[in-house]
This record gives sequence, C-alpha cells and structure tokens, in this order.
Amino acid sequence: DQLETLYRQVIMDHYKRPRNKGVLQDGSLTVDMNNPTCGDRIRLTMKIDGGKVDDVKFEGEGCSISMASASMMTEAIRGKDTESALRLAEMFSEMIQGKDVEQIEALGDAVALQGVAKFPARIKCATLAWKALEKGLKDH
Ligand code: FES
Ligand code: FES
Repeated sequence: DQLETLYRQVIMDHYKRPRNKGVLQDGSLTVDMNNPTCGDRIRLTMKIDGGKVDDVKFEGEGCSISMASASMMTEAIRGKDTESALRLAEMFSEMIQGKDVEQIEALGDAVALQGVAKFPARIKCATLAWKALEKGLKDH
C-alpha cells in the first residue's frame, strides 16, 4: 500500500545517503554491537558533553534496514540530553511491537521503521543501532 511504499522510500534514502556516517575522532564513547543472527555490525561513536549528546556518528556493515535505522537514530538523538536519548533507545530497542506509535511518529523518518515491524525477522535489523545506543548510554 501507499504507506509501505513511503516507508520503503524513506529507508532506501537513508541507506543510500546515510546521515552522520563515520567515526568521531574526539568521541568520548564508543560502542560496538553486532546482530548475532547475521553477523552484521555497527560501531557508534558519541561525544557527550554536559549531559547532552553533542555529536554522534555510526559506521558498520549491514543490510539496508540496519544501516538506515542507524542513520535515522543518529538524527533523532543528536543534540538531545542523554536521558531523553536513553528513553528513546529503550523504546526503540523493543519497539516495534506497535506501542508508543505517537511518540515514534514525532521522530519523523524513524517512523518508517514501523513499516518493518510486521516482519519479525527484520526487527533485529531495525533495532541494532538502538540497542547499541542503549548499551552505550547505560555504560556511560
Ligand atoms: Fe536480513 Fe535483516 S534484512 S535478517
Ligand atoms: Fe544483518 Fe539486517 S541482515 S542486520
């Protein structure tokens, strides 16, 4: 349907033109995470300053959904205070069971991830970056 087409376009756009891709040289926090079901991996580097996510970048190798999701995640949390970023991470990590849709909608592009919720095999892909974020902020 139309919504699904939109989701797919948003995901492909982030996959082809990832936002905030790379490694922060002055990052204060590095997190590595992989998806054990496929071996795909992500590395997050973040600069946390004054209780805020000043900057965040990701790099990794993975399927389109995992990489698009990482790109969306960096956009969603950049500039946020660490508490709100952690709340989002917790929410998205278990996402996508269809709850909190309104909050998710407030996140713009990240709503596209809802579109993959129906495919359980892909939930691990969609949540990889968020799980990395959650781990990083909890360890921090
Ligand atoms: Fe293949 Fe995620 S796209 S398991
Ligand atoms: Fe590995 Fe999607 S297939 S993260």
